[in-house]
Amino acid sequence: MENIEVLYDELSINERVKELAETIYHKYGKEEVVFICTLKGAVFFACDLLKNYKGDARIEFLRVSSYKGTETTGKVELNLSISKENIQDKNVIIIEDIVDTGHTLAFLNKYISDMKPKSLEICTLLDKKIKREVAINPTYSGFVVDDLFVIGYGLDYNQKYRNLPYIGVLKKTEKISK
Ligand code: IMP
Ligand code: MG
Repeated sequence: MENIEVLYDELSINERVKELAETIYHKYGKEEVVFICTLKGAVFFACDLLKNYKGDARIEFLRVSSYKGTETTGKVELNLSISKENIQDKNVIIIEDIVDTGHTLAFLNKYISDMKPKSLEICTLLDKKIKREVAINPTYSGFVVDDLFVIGYGLDYNQKYRNLPYIGVLKKTEKISK
């Protein structure tokens, strides 16, 4: 693990996650929120966010995979779904690890909107704004990152590094591809 440069350490992540939880609570107050954690990447973030959330909350899980060819078009596939009764007429927040091109969130946004929630927002830990291909803007975002491949705190490179307690960047010794 010596080729990793720390971008956000554990303390900075904890502080920012607490702030996000407070901002969301400030908005919803006594109203219940259904948080949807997108597996696998957002799992660490979702747990910490929910542990710091003071209001009424439920948690659901979705799993999607995005396949990317050499071209930029992303094809998103749903691997684990949610039933409509858990979403309809509820305040829903999708929790993501990172928004890159935006294809995954555009897909999820439509999938959840079709279930007619009372409200729908997006909370992402990281936003790679510069890479956006579709117009999708997270309502809440932890940190804006440059065009770097980041790992740790749930984020992986070939399924590795998810367990790091910080967010880091792999240095150039390994060839990075998604
Ligand atoms: P999008 O559909 O291009 O926005 O891709 C979003 C998904 O790609 C995220 O949920 C991540 O799973 C993955 N991803 C994008 N950038 C990174 C990165 O820098 N590190 C790890 N995973 C990434
Ligand atoms: Mg993800």
